[in-house]
Amino acid sequence: MKKFIVLLVVSAIVFAIGLYVGKVKFSASGPAAPPPTFFEGGDGTMAVDLSEKNVIEVRDGQSIQDAVGKANPGDLIRVYPGIYHETVYIDKDNISLQGVIQKGKWPTLDGSKDGEKVLNDAILYSGSNTLIENFKIVQYKGNGIMGQAGNNFLIRNNWIIDSGVYGIFPEFGKNGLITHNVLSGIADAAIYVGMCDNIDVKYNEVFESVAGIEIENCRHALVEGNYTHNNTGGILAFITPGLPIKDCQDVIIRNNFVVNNNLENFGKPGAIISLLPKGTGVIVMAADDVVIENNIITGNGNTGIAITDLSFGSQLSKDTAVEPNPDRIVILDNVMYGNGENPVADVKAAMATQFDDKGPDILAYGGGVGSCIRNRDMYRTWGLDNYATCELTSTADVKSYLLSEPVAPRELEKDEKGKLAYYGVCSGCHAYDVRMIGPPVQAIQAMYKDNPQGLADYIANPVRRREDYPEMPPQNYLTEETRLAVAEFMLNFEKK
Ligand code: HEC
Repeated sequence: MKKFIVLLVVSAIVFAIGLYVGKVKFSASGPAAPPPTFFEGGDGTMAVDLSEKNVIEVRDGQSIQDAVGKANPGDLIRVYPGIYHETVYIDKDNISLQGVIQKGKWPTLDGSKDGEKVLNDAILYSGSNTLIENFKIVQYKGNGIMGQAGNNFLIRNNWIIDSGVYGIFPEFGKNGLITHNVLSGIADAAIYVGMCDNIDVKYNEVFESVAGIEIENCRHALVEGNYTHNNTGGILAFITPGLPIKDCQDVIIRNNFVVNNNLENFGKPGAIISLLPKGTGVIVMAADDVVIENNIITGNGNTGIAITDLSFGSQLSKDTAVEPNPDRIVILDNVMYGNGENPVADVKAAMATQFDDKGPDILAYGGGVGSCIRNRDMYRTWGLDNYATCELTSTADVKSYLLSEPVAPRELEKDEKGKLAYYGVCSGCHAYDVRMIGPPVQAIQAMYKDNPQGLADYIANPVRRREDYPEMPPQNYLTEETRLAVAEFMLNFEKK
């Protein structure tokens, strides 16, 4: 009973009381079972019961990674304010990583040294049932928070500034909530949900990034109540061809502010994102069953909503398994004004055909069937002639795409594990044929060609081998299995 009350109190602080208290899914049944972790409801709430967890504290000057190394599944790691220059890699299930914010001071993961970005990623997780909250993350070369194949994740109240690739990037995960994060200065997508299922992205603020929120090759995603402003593009739902998941469907984009997304594209030249034209509020490319409802979409200089087939991204790889048209797009009521003041050349040319010199509120280009719009006369549109009038008036009955029960952890294939660890950890110091912080992979391959176990043993406990290199930090936080997997991955790695 006491536990129940504690849970109630904890829940009440974080979310509205009472909605999910009755839905406790697990109870600890024996010493071997991890303590209950995720409580969740189809009503869109997700919380972790932290009340009975074993707590590991990390203070300024200590290492978060050491704490993760010591932690057992079910543990709560609390990180106090301070500056932490490290990459945290979580490859266990049921780890809760919680920053403690005191008097406005955040625990800060800082990827820079002397003003230069030096570390690749701040937090990488591959375990399921992961909580990451209350961190400030600044100046990483790669990603702020990246997940690979972790199910049931909750990423909330993080503050991520100036990372070179993505801000929050769960890939291959099922059942996750990304909420109340603030992200800015991200050189690709600030929030990038890739190849995931059943994800809610709610109440985040995303600005001064190239893409605000991206839903890519996902099924069942709800993007609600976010404030995306002053990015190059605001909210995107699309298919990237050439990936293992071939579709993107069932996405609701609702109750968001999508405002003044006119930032000059500062994506790395050569990255696909560098092609994103500035000034577009919402972009749907090749995705199906997307509902765009009750958003406030204003001041986007190119167009408010653009719906296109894959020919728009003609630089993308060809993939015959992908159906390239956006089908069954549903545009319900949205507030739109002040869009299209500064359209890109193609859009300008299109609008000239109907004697308008501004970009439209809504533009549809290319193929697709079964789409509809409500109250079309409220907007300036282009290319929506084959859109019917919608019968649906609202998606209010869909509260959330989170599942009512946590899903089982995904079993990663061994080579996926190795690849994740390699890109997540080793590639920060080792490159294929050039010296970085560590020796080139080619040289390592020559040494350990038929001896992956020897390599795995070395990285657990590296000894000094080369006068002209620094010491390699031990990688003993990786499980034995992962160390062997990454050894094999490294030995088979080829330059592309
Ligand atoms: C922070 C930088 C850094 C990271 C991260 C790192 N290494 Fe290293 N690595 C080094 C340095 C520096 C050396 C050279 C050490 C020496 O010769 O004393 C080295 C050497 C090695 C060697 C050579 C061992 C030998 O017998 O000479 C192997 C193998 C290796 N690293 C594998 C890995 C793998 C696998 C990973 C990822 C799990 C990894 N390293 C991550 C910096 C790093």
